Amino acid sequence: MNLRTNPPPIPFIDIAAQRRRLGPAIDAAVARVMNHCQFILGPEVRAFETELAAFCGARHVVTCASGTDALVLALRALGIGPGDAVLCPSFTFCATAEVAALVGATPVFVDVDEATFNIDTSGIAGAVAAAKAAGLKPKAIIPVDLFGLPADHDAVRAAAQAENLLVLDDAAQGFGATYNGHRLGTFGHATATSFFPAKPLGCYGDGGAIMTEDDGLADALKSLRMHGQGSDKYDNVRIGLASRLDTIQAAILIEKLKIFPDEIEARNKVARRYDQGLEDIVTTPYVPTGCTSVWAQYTIRVGNGRRDALVAALKAEGIPTAVYYPIPLHLQECFKYLGYRKGDLPVSEQACKEVLALPIHPELREEEVRYVAVQLLAAVV
Ligand SMILES: Cc1ncc(COP(=O)(O)O)c(C=O)c1O
Repeated sequence: MNLRTNPPPIPFIDIAAQRRRLGPAIDAAVARVMNHCQFILGPEVRAFETELAAFCGARHVVTCASGTDALVLALRALGIGPGDAVLCPSFTFCATAEVAALVGATPVFVDVDEATFNIDTSGIAGAVAAAKAAGLKPKAIIPVDLFGLPADHDAVRAAAQAENLLVLDDAAQGFGATYNGHRLGTFGHATATSFFPAKPLGCYGDGGAIMTEDDGLADALKSLRMHGQGSDKYDNVRIGLASRLDTIQAAILIEKLKIFPDEIEARNKVARRYDQGLEDIVTTPYVPTGCTSVWAQYTIRVGNGRRDALVAALKAEGIPTAVYYPIPLHLQECFKYLGYRKGDLPVSEQACKEVLALPIHPELREEEVRYVAVQLLAAVV
């Protein structure tokens, strides 16, 4: 007879726990929308945009249908298109580079920093030169705040200014984090974020937003999300999209934003506990001075080909893990036409072999973190 009692499986993220916390407030918010029936660009959308702008300190927030659309709309509003090169890291979610291709531009990949996993700004000048040599016009760069940690925005700005590049911050994972005391949303010409349910600030479906300080850009974004609308509904001055944040999702996000600062603090508490339990065992995440993370992921590094065995050992003990990302974008099938080869961006390639994300969410309890650390120690020794 097996008398060993395993604790219940730990959820990788726990959206249901937050749903329990906010249930009645969200139900009431959704009911209000169901009663007024303004499902597209209803009053909650404007209200949420105003509250989000106050939260992150941005002059304008324009919401839209997803984080991917936020990037597409921003690139379109910035005037990026065929013949242009858009620089971005290779170690990120596919949407970061996909959007460049979607607007007809060419993604040019830059390697990432070994410690932060964010774009290595020392590679920008070389990527610009390579783009020019290929006959492209380098126009923009998309730094990513990967796993919740801000990119080195001062260094990105300096490199972008030197190379005359527009900066579009992909804060889909990092929105809510701070860089030199300021929340993401004001670094670069525009910032895009995602409200995909698993994101630190997620809704109950798809959603996204663009932040900008630029009045003209904000006007262009509002037009682009409504079929390129001009002075009225049937005046079309641009080729645009149907990309709005649903009023129901905005109503949900208004409630979620109220507890977001609390949740960020709770995520940080979990991360600190992981750090304490794991730093002698594996490579834990590095947070540079001047930055805070929102811990979209808590990603450790497991070298020497030990990752698969560790994943299996943790799984057997009820601990889910995930590999973000197993393949760098420059080696993805969809970007084969760009001609990159294995070895071109070695730091990204190595990261793909070693990264492992552990469960993290604001409701992860102290004993659960301890359990993960104990099992990890048992598995790696
Ligand atoms: C870095 C990054 N950029 C863009 C996106 C796209 O966001 P969405 O899924 O809302 O389209 C994601 C979503 O996973 C992401 O992680």
